[in-house]
Amino acid sequence: MSRVLLSLGLVVATIFTSQAAMAETPAEILAMIKAEASAAAGYQEFSAARGEKFFHVKHGDEWSCSSCHTDNPMNEGKHAKTEKLIKPLAPAANAERFTELKKVEKWFKRNCNDVLNRECTAQEKGDVMTYLLGVGTKHVEAPKIEAPVQHAQVAAPVAAAAVAATAVAATSKKPVAKKKAVS
Ligand code: HEC
Repeated sequence: MSRVLLSLGLVVATIFTSQAAMAETPAEILAMIKAEASAAAGYQEFSAARGEKFFHVKHGDEWSCSSCHTDNPMNEGKHAKTEKLIKPLAPAANAERFTELKKVEKWFKRNCNDVLNRECTAQEKGDVMTYLLGVGTKHVEAPKIEAPVQHAQVAAPVAAAAVAATAVAATSKKPVAKKKAVS
């Protein structure tokens, strides 16, 4: 029995390991896009500001990226045509974003064609991805502790002592001795 469980455990572990090996991190995907972009003429360091603008403006056609993903990539979006809900695009709001290169490539291709009538350049993808990775992560600081925490005065021992004193004061009178019956 335990041997069956052990081998089951091994199978599960193997499946998890192989899945982990297939997935990418946003940083890895960005690095791949950067390798492509930096090989092209006119490459500029990726810019979140440029990516933000790219995301929000129309590119001579009917739609912008925000037409479906809303102006704020932290929000859930809605397909401009089918009205299907789209989960937030920013990884800060949706941890599944930018974790599968194939998916990222597929949707960049489709969405860029919808919005720009052409594929995006690696530079454009890198800029917009840099913007999306930063959304929701700014202004997040660890809470500041201004002064050492003041402990509330503990009143409990005082109260317990009072209860004890009351108990002592309430001791009963000596029982009156019964008169002995005269025989
Ligand atoms: C017509 C609607 C529509 C427009 C416009 C649109 N998108 Fe999307 N986008 C989608 C849908 C639908 C998906 C796939 C569903 C999902 O992943 O939740 C998607 C997925 C993505 C993904 C996949 C990310 C991941 O790892 O899961 C990226 C990146 C993306 N869009 C970027 C863009 C950019 C950049 C633009 C502007 C150039 C844009 N989208 C415009 C509908 C749209």
